[in-house]
Amino acid sequence: MKLLVLGGTRFLGRQIVEAALARGDDVTLFTRGRLPVPWMGDPRVTALVGDRDPRVAPGLSALERGQWDAVIDCSGYVPRVVEASVRLLAARVARYVFVSSMSVYAKTDRPNLDETTAVATLADPHTEAVLEHYGALKAACEAVVDRLLGARATQVRPGLIVGPFDGTDRFGYWVARFMHPQLLGDRPARAVVPGPRERPVQFIDARDLAQWMVDLAARDVEGTFNACSAAWQFRMGDLVDALVAAAPAPPRPTWIEDEELVARGVAPWVGLPLWLPPTEPDSAGFMTMDCSRAQRAGLVIRPLADTLRDTAAWLRERDNTGAWKQVLTADAERAILA
Ligand SMILES: NC(=O)c1ccc[n+]([C@@H]2O[C@H](COP(=O)([O-])OP(=O)(O)OC[C@H]3O[C@@H](n4cnc5c(N)ncnc54)[C@H](OP(=O)(O)O)[C@@H]3O)[C@@H](O)[C@H]2O)c1
Repeated sequence: MKLLVLGGTRFLGRQIVEAALARGDDVTLFTRGRLPVPWMGDPRVTALVGDRDPRVAPGLSALERGQWDAVIDCSGYVPRVVEASVRLLAARVARYVFVSSMSVYAKTDRPNLDETTAVATLADPHTEAVLEHYGALKAACEAVVDRLLGARATQVRPGLIVGPFDGTDRFGYWVARFMHPQLLGDRPARAVVPGPRERPVQFIDARDLAQWMVDLAARDVEGTFNACSAAWQFRMGDLVDALVAAAPAPPRPTWIEDEELVARGVAPWVGLPLWLPPTEPDSAGFMTMDCSRAQRAGLVIRPLADTLRDTAAWLRERDNTGAWKQVLTADAERAILA
């Protein structure tokens, strides 16, 4: 297959390129060239430079020529910008796979929400404020792709994406806390973990997501898919047990209930990643989304131990300067344990 990736050099896109190369595909990347291209000199990879935003020179001019079997759009956040690439490429790509998000839903206040759930809408359809309106903007981007391409559109809505090259410190916090605690400074021998053990958590290794999306593109599969581990496949207890099993000298997990963490002012999701107390609006369904459609379309979730091992190896190698700014501090953790 000839695959065009809009993006491709940071995290998910990088794994998409690797998955495509492993299948023997030819890959074209389109980025601003700010991040290095890891496959420089590889004859199977063509790296084009421009800007997705046609208002920012040189815009999309590098994409004015060429034909591809599929495009995977990893870097679309604003409908106006996505529309520019869809219009430019419509006659020259067979399938357009748009990387959306599970954040598109208007409400995630109950478990098992599937792809038919209502999506968020924008009060101001012209807003481009991505941080404030991330989910509704992704939904509006999906609508553009659907409107212009119909059955040639594929919408993929991932949950939390994890694994090597994830620079967000979310899942990585748990891996570091148990497998390389020294990366987080001088930490106590016990680790605060958010109880109860049965708390459902949902995430997907970028490599599983990437391989499946490349496969969807190659098989020319249309539709809209939530894309994550299955609802209730993993509980917080499974994650903590797997971390303890994988770590050479793990801290002792100390389960702390929601009320205590809330009272201590721990920031949900950010201070303790994967932790969403019931006090958070719309949290009841966020970690139990129905992903069965993706599974029926071939999505396979690798063993958790693989993700932990490879994330730990990557964390050890990367430059950790400037990391872990938002997670629970060592002092706050000690105070909770006391
Ligand atoms: N992380 C999660 O948990 C999560 C969850 C759900 C959905 N998602 C979605 O998953 C996608 C994955 O993002 P990723 O960052 O991992 O993808 P990526 O493709 O690995 O990285 C983003 C790429 O876009 C390029 N880029 C950024 N702005 C650009 C512009 N204006 N014009 C041209 N290229 C541009 C960057 O290169 P340059 O900087 O060199 O231009 C980089 O190659 C996003 O759409 C995100 O919304 C993520």
